[in-house]
Amino acid sequence: MSLADGVSVQDGVLAVGGVPLDRAFAALRRLEPGAGACWIYDLDLIEARARRFQAAFGPLGVHAGYALKANALPAILRRVRTAGLAAEAGSLGELRAAEREGFAAAERILNGNGRTAEEAEFAAREGVHSVNADHIGELDLLEAHAARAGSRVRVALRVNPGIATGGHDYVATGHEQAKFGVAAAEALEAWAARARWPHLKVDGIHLHVGSQLLEATPLEQAVETARQLAAESAGRGAPLGLVNLGGGFGVDYTGAGREFPLEAHAARLKGLLGALPLDRVMEPGRWMVAHAGVLLAQVLWVKRRRGAGEGSARRFIVLGAGMNDLIRPALYHAHHRIVPVRPRAGAHEPATVVGPVCESADVFERDVALPPLERGDLVALLDAGAYGAVMSSNYNGRGRLAELTVSGGRLTRVRAAEDAAALAARATEDTLDVG
Ligand SMILES: Cc1ncc(COP(=O)(O)O)c(C=O)c1O
Repeated sequence: MSLADGVSVQDGVLAVGGVPLDRAFAALRRLEPGAGACWIYDLDLIEARARRFQAAFGPLGVHAGYALKANALPAILRRVRTAGLAAEAGSLGELRAAEREGFAAAERILNGNGRTAEEAEFAAREGVHSVNADHIGELDLLEAHAARAGSRVRVALRVNPGIATGGHDYVATGHEQAKFGVAAAEALEAWAARARWPHLKVDGIHLHVGSQLLEATPLEQAVETARQLAAESAGRGAPLGLVNLGGGFGVDYTGAGREFPLEAHAARLKGLLGALPLDRVMEPGRWMVAHAGVLLAQVLWVKRRRGAGEGSARRFIVLGAGMNDLIRPALYHAHHRIVPVRPRAGAHEPATVVGPVCESADVFERDVALPPLERGDLVALLDAGAYGAVMSSNYNGRGRLAELTVSGGRLTRVRAAEDAAALAARATEDTLDVG
């Protein structure tokens, strides 16, 4: 039985990529006896999804850069690169991670709304496919570094198109109040004045309207915005050469099968982009990796508490993973299905599943129906491959978790958990010279 793309039930036990999760956890505990949780990713599924994305959009001439922010694990980067994707970085750290994994200059797209001198220098010296500038002032910084390096950097201007998307406010990036992008009028002025930046090729438009979109309408509205602005800019004597449509392709976190209609969108884009003979870029993140990862956690405690006036006791399941590991429920009110790895017989009853962090927001799910669970049992939080481990922190003095991969049935620990020594390693006693 298959629960999500990457998770199946084999002989009553939950498995990722064919590896039973109870055995995976036991194997990890032999290396990390204190582990209370870990991440597991199915690399074969990631590569298959990357190839599916390429098959849908490659024929449209789309240069797809995998958004590292979704999950920048080196083993994952290698697989998306094998499938032919480029890399989209939102920071110097991600640019370097892409470079380390072999993405060449023409395969590195740089985003970010807080451009630094170091990022500009990297783009100018090491080379990138293009930089998406979030602010016109950024062009002077990029120009100075490109002039110094004797290079030419291609730039797309991120335009705030005023497009509202559904879903949580924190993943909507294209509406008027969002911090991202410049106004269309500013972009038009900058394209027309591009001779001011002789070491830049300011001929692109970038639009990323939001994340976790389950329908294509906002993305199609963005194409229409690009089409209108390209026509207007050409009319002002500054034709555009590049359109970057960002990412945003959503996945089904519910198990109900409501996914972003990837292939249907590609078919419609073919018509829409036909009228836009520009170089094309996309930046998919979540869609590629979300289904391919689980957060596997041990039950630390089962607590029952009866409130005043409450008929039955409330059941709390305390996991060895918390909001510092997977912050999506606390940050975005996101829901991840919680599935026992080896379900016990017995009636499903409501449970509030929480982490061990000292915060009331450290709740994964309230009143979810679950079978009996006992101390030491394992549960998996599904679809945790995107915006999971990359957003984890050391809050409450907790080390970040180990990350495991499965490929061809082989389980590998590709990142060890942070232990107490790793947590202490940044402490210093450096006297600073204040002049
Ligand atoms: C500029 C940009 N491009 C691409 C992405 C990837 O988006 P997603 O993971 O929704 O595909 C993001 C994420 O929000 C982004 O900010």
